[in-house]
Amino acid sequence: MPQSRRKRSSHRVAVSGDVEVSAYLEIAEGRREEQPRPEPEESPGHRREAVAIVDFGSQYSWLIARRVRECNVYCEVVPHDASWDSISALQPNGLILSGGPGSVNDEGAPVAPAWVYESRVPVLGICYGMQLIAHQLGGRVAPGEKREYGLAVLHQNADRTALFDGLPPDIPVWMSHGDRIEEMPPGFTSLAYTENSPIAAMGNDSGILGILFHPEVVHTPQGKNILKNFLYKVCGCSGTWTPGSFVAESVERIRSQVGEGKVICALSGGVDSAVVATLIHRAIGEQLTCIFVDTGMLRSEEPERIRRTFQQNMKMNLIHVNASDRFLTRLAGVIDPEQKRHIIGEEFVRVFEEEAARIGKVDFLAQGTLYPDVIESALTGSRTVATIKTHHNVGGLPSKMNLSLVEPLRYLFKDEVREVGRALGLPEEMVYRQPFPGPGLAIRIVGDITKARLKIVRAADWIVMNEIKAAKLYRQLWQSFAVLTPVRSVGVMGDERTYGYMVAIRAVTSEDAMTADWARLPYDLLARISNRIVNEVPEVNRVVYDISSKPPSTIEWE
Ligand code: XMP
Repeated sequence: MPQSRRKRSSHRVAVSGDVEVSAYLEIAEGRREEQPRPEPEESPGHRREAVAIVDFGSQYSWLIARRVRECNVYCEVVPHDASWDSISALQPNGLILSGGPGSVNDEGAPVAPAWVYESRVPVLGICYGMQLIAHQLGGRVAPGEKREYGLAVLHQNADRTALFDGLPPDIPVWMSHGDRIEEMPPGFTSLAYTENSPIAAMGNDSGILGILFHPEVVHTPQGKNILKNFLYKVCGCSGTWTPGSFVAESVERIRSQVGEGKVICALSGGVDSAVVATLIHRAIGEQLTCIFVDTGMLRSEEPERIRRTFQQNMKMNLIHVNASDRFLTRLAGVIDPEQKRHIIGEEFVRVFEEEAARIGKVDFLAQGTLYPDVIESALTGSRTVATIKTHHNVGGLPSKMNLSLVEPLRYLFKDEVREVGRALGLPEEMVYRQPFPGPGLAIRIVGDITKARLKIVRAADWIVMNEIKAAKLYRQLWQSFAVLTPVRSVGVMGDERTYGYMVAIRAVTSEDAMTADWARLPYDLLARISNRIVNEVPEVNRVVYDISSKPPSTIEWE
C-alpha cells in the first residue's frame, strides 16, 4: 500500500490543539528515568463490548481501529506478540488480525499467538491476517502469479456468510497482496472470489473468517458494513461505545484511580487539556487544580476565554499565571527559531513547577495523551523525534515532583476527544479549535519578538481567524493564521509614503500535519483579509499569501 503510516508517523509532531502543553508533557515522558510514570491503569475496555486488533505491521491497523470505533464498539490495537494475560482484561468479543507487509512464508514472519485460535471468540483475518489463518491452521499460501493491487470486484459464492449480510452479490473491494490462498485449512469454505483470487474470503463454523481485501479503507465502499456485520452479527456486539458512555466510565475510573489524591493539570486552551480537565473535574471536583501559564505568546482573547470557561462557568480551581514579561525578557534579541522554542519550553516548565509547588502536596499530573501516541509507542516500542523543528526536546516537566499520571484520553482518537468535549458541554470554539503551536506567536514572528510586534501579529491573526470563520472554512482548514515577516516595504496611503511590515497569510489543508497543501482560498476572501489587515493594522502595508506546500516548506514559518 502506498506510503507507510508507520514511517510517516516516525516524524512525530504535536498535532493536538493542546500542543503548547502536550508538547512539554511529552518531553517529560521522553525522559522516563526521572519522570512520573503512568499508574498501572486498567484499560477502559474491561467491562464493555470490545474487540482486539492484533497488529502484524500494517500501516492500516489504526484505521481498522477507527472503523470499529465508528461502529460504536470499543477496540484496542495490540502487538502480535502480546500475551493473553496482557489483553484478557479487555475480554474481547472478537479478534481482528490486521494486514502486514510481508509474506507468511518469509523466514521469521510474524504469526498469530495460540490464544487467537484458542480463545473461542470470532476471528476476522484481513489480508495478511487471512493468509496467516490459512497458513497456521493447515492450508497453503503461495505467491500469486501477479500481485493484486487496487480495485477488484468481489463475487460472493453460494455459501452465504453473515459477514456479507445486506450486501449486493458483487462489490468493489480494495486489494493489496502478493500471496494467494492455494488451499484452505480443513473445515473452511470459500465465501467469495475475485478475478485474481479464487479464494478471497473464507470461513469455518467456529467463526474464524478471512478476507483478502481491506474493508477499512475508503476504496472498499461497503467495508464498514462488512466490519459492522462482523462486530454485530458474528461477535454479537450491540454497539454501546459512545462519547456519553465514555464520560460515565471515565468519571468512575478517575475516581477510583485518584481516591482522595490531589491532581494538577496544565490548561492551554486547546481541546485535549480542556477535555482532560473537564472530565477530571467532573470526577473529583475540588481535588483538581488547573494551571494556565500565559506566555504572552497567545492569540487574542485566548487567556480571557480560558478564564471564563473554566473558572467562571465551570467553577474550577484555576491558577492563571500571567508570565508574559518573564517570557519576553528571556526572548529579547533572540531570532533563532530553535532557540525561541528552547527558551519557551524551559520557561514554561519553570513557571509550572513554581506554581505547582505553591499548591502543596500533589499526587497526580493529568495529561492529554491520545491513542495514536499509545499505539505508536506500543507497536514500535519507541518514538523517534523529528529534528526538523525541535517540538519536544526543549526541556522537561517537573522532575522532582514525583507524580503519577492520569491520562483519561489515552484510548481515544482526536475526533473522539472532540465528541467527548461536546458531550461534556465544552464550547464549540474550544472543541474545534485549530492546532496552535506550543511556542505560540513567537514562531509566527520572524525575527525579534517584542511587545509591539506581538501586537501586530495578534491583530492580523485575529482578522484572519474571523474572516475564515465568517467564510465557514475554519473547520475545513488544518490551520490558518498570519505571520509577521521582518520585511518592510514602501507603500502609499492617502498621499503619504509608508514604510510598513509585510504580513504573510498561511492557510493549509492537512490530515496529520506531516504533509500539507496550501488552501485554495477564494480570491475575494483573500482580498477581504488583505484589505482589513492593511486598514486595521497601521504598521502593515503589504499582505502576501503563502502558496507553498509541506514538504518542502513547513506549516509554520519558523
Ligand atoms: P511544521 O511547521 O513543522 O508544523 O510543519 C507541524 C505542526 O506542528 C505544529 N508545531 C509545533 N507544535 N511546538 C508545538 O507544540 C512547536 O514548536 C511546533 N512547531 C510547529 C504546527 O503548528 C503544525 O500544526
